[in-house]
Amino acid sequence: MNLKIKKILLKKNKSKIVSLTAYSKNIAKILDKYCDIILVGDSMANVLYGHENTHKISLQNIIQHTLSVQKGIQKSLLVVDMPKGSYNNPRSALKNAKTIMKKTNCDGVKLESYKNNFKIIELLVKKKIPVMGHIGYTPQFKKKFRLEGNNKKEIKVLLKEAKLIEKAGAFSIVLECLTYEAARIITKNTTIPTIGIGSSSYCDGQILVTDDMLGLSGFYPKFVKKYVNLNSLIEKATKKYTREVKLKKFPTKKYFLNGSRFR
Ligand code: KIV
Repeated sequence: MNLKIKKILLKKNKSKIVSLTAYSKNIAKILDKYCDIILVGDSMANVLYGHENTHKISLQNIIQHTLSVQKGIQKSLLVVDMPKGSYNNPRSALKNAKTIMKKTNCDGVKLESYKNNFKIIELLVKKKIPVMGHIGYTPQFKKKFRLEGNNKKEIKVLLKEAKLIEKAGAFSIVLECLTYEAARIITKNTTIPTIGIGSSSYCDGQILVTDDMLGLSGFYPKFVKKYVNLNSLIEKATKKYTREVKLKKFPTKKYFLNGSRFR
């Protein structure tokens, strides 16, 4: 087994797993120092490409950004989202997952649960492709956000789904927008780590979309804590630059090139 995955599995019930998304090298390089898992999420569709949902991201987009992220990573587990439409059936899922693994040298893929697609997880794992599951609010398949796990019946269905994903061989599972009771019960009754987003602190780890927690995306649902307001920092810097260019205060002599010195 991939040693990095082994380390993640060993964290269950011991220490919290830290995870964030990245789409490019410079951000990945910073996150890598602190994260256990870096996800190249299809959330890039909203965050980077300005789409309304995650549906239009292609395999090529995901691969391209993963190649960039890979350049910034030394120690974190690198997981890549399989785009919508890339795992409609076992054959295409296997072909596309193999392509992602081969072209990017990532550690595993993530796919969202839909109907009985845990059979796809089973096939990928059998072919030695590590898989992270994803249940609850799954933006590739559910149009509208809804908190899930609101009563015993809903929790039972979610737990069954999680257990099937575990049985299929996934090494972990994202719980997106579940009640704390659902997250607690699933986390307690599975042997693989649960990674929560909007699903309380009962999960084995947490993930957020990096641009959200940095205050850059403009998308801040209740479960997102903004650790910094990059939007306003960038605006301040841009304003200052604009003023200095207009007033001919930038560039000063200090920034002139002379001789052979470039840096
Ligand atoms: O695409 C993504 O960033 C994700 C996380 C929100 C879990 O799937």
